[in-house]
Amino acid sequence: MTMGNAPRTRTGPLAGRVAEQRLLGEILSASAVGVPAAVLVHGEAGIGKTRLVRHLTEKYRTGGHEVLWGTCVHFGAASVPFAPVAQALDNWALGVEPAVRTAVFEGSDELSILLPSMGTRSSDVPPSRLLPVVDRVVQRIVDRQPTIIVIDDLQWADVPSLDVLAYLIAGFRRQNLALVVTIREEDRPVGHPLHGWLADMRRLPGVSELMLERLDADETSEQLVQILGRPATEELVTAVMQRSGGNAYLTELLVRDLQPDARGVPSEPPQALREALLARWHSLSETARLLTHVLAVGGRPTTFETLSAVAASTVPAQDMPVLLREAVDAGVVQVVGDQTYWFRHPLLAEVLLATLTARERMPVHAAYAEALEAIAATRPDLAAGLSADLAVHHERAGRFDKALEFSIRAADSAHDLHASSVEAALLTKACALWERASDQVRGSTEDRIALLLRASRVGEQAGVLESTSSSTMQSRSWIGSANRCWPAPCWPRGAKQHGCMIRPIPRFARSCSKRSSSPSRSPTVPSGSRPWCGSSVQSCGTCRLRRCRLTSGVRSRKPSK
Ligand SMILES: Nc1ncnc2c1ncn2[C@@H]1O[C@H](COP(=O)(O)OP(=O)(O)OP(=O)(O)O)[C@@H](O)[C@H]1O
Ligand SMILES: [Mg+2]
Repeated sequence: MTMGNAPRTRTGPLAGRVAEQRLLGEILSASAVGVPAAVLVHGEAGIGKTRLVRHLTEKYRTGGHEVLWGTCVHFGAASVPFAPVAQALDNWALGVEPAVRTAVFEGSDELSILLPSMGTRSSDVPPSRLLPVVDRVVQRIVDRQPTIIVIDDLQWADVPSLDVLAYLIAGFRRQNLALVVTIREEDRPVGHPLHGWLADMRRLPGVSELMLERLDADETSEQLVQILGRPATEELVTAVMQRSGGNAYLTELLVRDLQPDARGVPSEPPQALREALLARWHSLSETARLLTHVLAVGGRPTTFETLSAVAASTVPAQDMPVLLREAVDAGVVQVVGDQTYWFRHPLLAEVLLATLTARERMPVHAAYAEALEAIAATRPDLAAGLSADLAVHHERAGRFDKALEFSIRAADSAHDLHASSVEAALLTKACALWERASDQVRGSTEDRIALLLRASRVGEQAGVLESTSSSTMQSRSWIGSANRCWPAPCWPRGAKQHGCMIRPIPRFARSCSKRSSSPSRSPTVPSGSRPWCGSSVQSCGTCRLRRCRLTSGVRSRKPSK
């Protein structure tokens, strides 16, 4: 049985949460006798979502359940497709006997594109096949023993991972399976893909939601007993409640440095969350603080090896273990997997990052880019998965050529995984980077148009209105100044509903016949797409594409007033 990389938060009994544990417990117990269920656990940052789910799943794990745990992380413009799902399955695979792994993965070679534990990567995955393959593999795990799959911090999940969960939930049959996801309330702005996903899931049978509220004074008092190891005075409980409002994490931060006989928390002005979060961090030695800054810039759990390579210019290699131990002992950092470190609470990473200016972060991003490139060079199986991070690090290090190159590589990897929403985000990023890249790397106007058209097409396919509109407008503008015909840029689906009025722009409607030579390279015209060169003439004399009309494929999708 495996716990994946479930964060090693404080263990022991929970303060309060009696009703929540009962409800969740009933659902998990029923799932062990063929009533599959999905539970969506909501709540503000630090309220105790992960702790509650970890506490309960640990109990069920010792009772014979299999627990697969995947965590979503937030880093840069685009995420790695299927990351939490791959993490959960990969950790499961690494924790079981080889014979079990072979039996469960039999006939599922397509998954090798996601799971390093499966060895050689399958080069060709037919469209849309991953979802049923993941479903089949999950079913085989479920057939062995009742299974709980936890996806923590779903607000940061990539769209393909949401699709996997939706596929599993929509396909619930008589299975001993429970899916538990935690969702932070704050990180869900308008337009976030989770809104639509939640609306869809709420309509499906077997889905329930649990909203965690803050702990009340009695429950906070219980939490204080656990932290302090003695009963807390009423005075102290009141003082803590005033500051933390019953948010378990803030309570923990406020009291863990108190003297045993303290009757209240320090009497400075009410502490902002940021100050409370940083209080413990300030107690670290200067070098350990520096190291945690380096970790924060990395944006996700980082291995000892990578962290050592990145920090090499400022932290001597031999000091690394001691410094990390110091940060772990102070409760700032925790070990989240094999030789892998991340902050004890994700909020701390965000707050620490905000203390650095973009200029201060630049050399650290550059060092990450170098370290990750070195890993990708020696571990081809990891290279595709590292491209998105490399794009972010290079961009933030001011290396726009490399950032463009890795954005496109990451988009290609997302394409291989049929993760069109992620591919669209990466292509949109690549289009923006194109402006800042050097001529040698970004190529010709033709390359620019091809990139914009790809972004427009993939954005349309993924239903991403914003990137489709922007790429379409830009591609049309560039096509207007180019000298050949191109497939028609896409109208974003839903443009009308969002009030976007996109129309052909007359000044780009030039005649193809007036243009000089045809280009040396032609883009492949996707079958079914219509050619468009901004020309209003019936047929084009200079390029190979026929039916070159302004109206072709454009007006048919023009939103009405
Ligand atoms: N019921 C509880 N009793 C005691 N301690 C708790 C309880 N709930 C949470 N905590 C502690 O508070 C801290 C924050 O909890 P946790 O990490 O679970 O919050 P979260 O809701 O998952 O936050 P985020 O949205 O940032 O992931 C942890 O250190 C945890 O151990
Ligand atoms: Mg959490």
